[in-house]
Amino acid sequence: MEASAVKEMLELIYKSSTDELEMLDYLVDWARIKYASEAFSPAKIELVKYIDKVFETLKENASLKTINLHHEIEENTIVFADKKMLLSIIQNIVSNAIKHTEPGGKISISSKINEDKLVVQIKDTGIGMSKDIQKKLFTPQVKVLSEKRESNKGAGIGLLLVKGFLEKCGGEIWVESIEGQGSTFYFTLPLDKPENKPDESSTIVVDEK
Ligand SMILES: Nc1ncnc2c1ncn2[C@@H]1O[C@H](COP(=O)(O)OP(=O)(O)OP(=O)(O)O)[C@@H](O)[C@H]1O
Ligand SMILES: [Mg+2]
Repeated sequence: MEASAVKEMLELIYKSSTDELEMLDYLVDWARIKYASEAFSPAKIELVKYIDKVFETLKENASLKTINLHHEIEENTIVFADKKMLLSIIQNIVSNAIKHTEPGGKISISSKINEDKLVVQIKDTGIGMSKDIQKKLFTPQVKVLSEKRESNKGAGIGLLLVKGFLEKCGGEIWVESIEGQGSTFYFTLPLDKPENKPDESSTIVVDEK
């Protein structure tokens, strides 16, 4: 695509989004993953640092709604992931939880090790969601998308992006929710660098000599 066409498209999306700044953040993230794969640099990182950062960013939002943000992640809980992606993953899930939790509610994060993965749990006491919404959560739903734009809600690409990031990092995401009671998002990330993973970065170079 020509630069001018890209610019035009960006402006269009920008104008049509109801949450312009959030939308631009998404686009930057998306472009980064899609076209700048060299920017993907997973490493062993300390989970609690990123949770603290997200809580710091969102604490005002949460306290305006008197929602309690809480985590039980211990120091030295290490995951193998891209730092920016991890930040975006946590930020998206927690900000959704704040959006969909009534004042006085609680959001808590915990984790446990399962084989070679860390399972992170983000639980809220919010409005929950129907089975139907749960099914469509991580898939692009154009109709839902446009309806949401009209009704001034989110663009509905947050979780799509989160899923993409997690897959890129070798993880997964799923949700459990009961309407009226709350939602729990789970995601996994590798504890360490995958060994002998046949991907583009480990093309085998055979030494002929
Ligand atoms: N913690 C939650 N509790 C209840 N519903 C949720 C929760 N998280 C997500 N949802 C539902 O899933 C939908 C999709 O979430 P997603 O983050 O993909 O989009 P969005 O928040 O609507 O918009 P965007 O993130 O693009 O601003 C939400 O609109 C909401 O209906
Ligand atoms: Mg969202």
